[in-house]
Amino acid sequence: MRISVTLLSYEHGVIRQVLDVLAEIVRTSSIDKHFDHVVEIVDFLDSYMDKFHHKKEERFVFPAAMISSPNLKPEIEELLHEHRRARQLLGIMIDETRQKGIKDLNRLSRSSKALVEHVTIHIQKEESSVFPKIEDAISIDDDIKVDEKCREFTRDRFGEDFHQVNERFSFRIQDEVLGAGHNSSVA
Ligand SMILES: [Fe+2]
Ligand SMILES: [Fe+2]
Repeated sequence: MRISVTLLSYEHGVIRQVLDVLAEIVRTSSIDKHFDHVVEIVDFLDSYMDKFHHKKEERFVFPAAMISSPNLKPEIEELLHEHRRARQLLGIMIDETRQKGIKDLNRLSRSSKALVEHVTIHIQKEESSVFPKIEDAISIDDDIKVDEKCREFTRDRFGEDFHQVNERFSFRIQDEVLGAGHNSSVA
């Protein structure tokens, strides 16, 4: 077990919980009805998934893994490519939720559906295939250093309570959209 990777896995749980809510909104064609919730979900994906979680992987965990085990480079480059694709889809969602005036809800729905599918597969790949290899590659000493850098990055950019705020958000959005007491997808 490596603490830096364990934390990333925990964050996957929070992200997946919010993606499940978005998937349900898209599935039931209720973006119009839940538009304010979708705006909040897009803000969460922009800050928690893209600027926080993906950045921690890109800046700290993946480089440390590639230094320790250069043969991981092709797989990690594929993950980085997938981050860029997620960022692209999220960019469309940001466009459609933040602009004033007429919104193209079909475009928002299509990009939301694509993002849910894309990020779900990406997370599964990290969990089942790449993270176990990264845990093997990073030594305990390196893990401590990587974890320190991740904590410093989180504290400086997002604040001490960033985890709790986003975890609370994932439960609130689930309750408000799917109904209180809905079974959580976070194990
Ligand atoms: Fe990733
Ligand atoms: Fe990830």
